[in-house]
Amino acid sequence: MLYSEKVMDHFSNPRNVGEIENADGIGEVGNAKCGDIMKMYLKIDDGVITDVKFKTFGCGAAIATSSIATEMVKGKTIDEALKLTNKAVVEALDGLPPVKLHCSVLAEQAMKSALSDYYRRQGIDPVPIVGEIGECEACH
Ligand code: FES
Repeated sequence: MLYSEKVMDHFSNPRNVGEIENADGIGEVGNAKCGDIMKMYLKIDDGVITDVKFKTFGCGAAIATSSIATEMVKGKTIDEALKLTNKAVVEALDGLPPVKLHCSVLAEQAMKSALSDYYRRQGIDPVPIVGEIGECEACH
């Protein structure tokens, strides 16, 4: 089987799908080559992520990674969420096929982009945490 049970579970039954009205931070990233787009919404109270939702227009792996990434940061502090790496996301999903690894990078970037947006709204100069997203070689 190409995908782990966890990937299939988060793909067929994604957690935290949707939007947050009056979100404290919104991040949107896209992969130019495959055209997949991921949007993250964060609600932050006293430095803690109290709610998180996502909308992903993309492949199954992108949906599964965004779903598990939201679970991984919910209830965590901003500092902890900033440490979320695509590697941790992939491990939490019990792995992804190599050609789908870039989809998990999208989840890390979307989360960091939403946190940057939060900093911006707070008037704190955001550290440029959103870098280039690797080219997607195996899209759809
Ligand atoms: Fe492009 Fe998954 S994000 S194929």
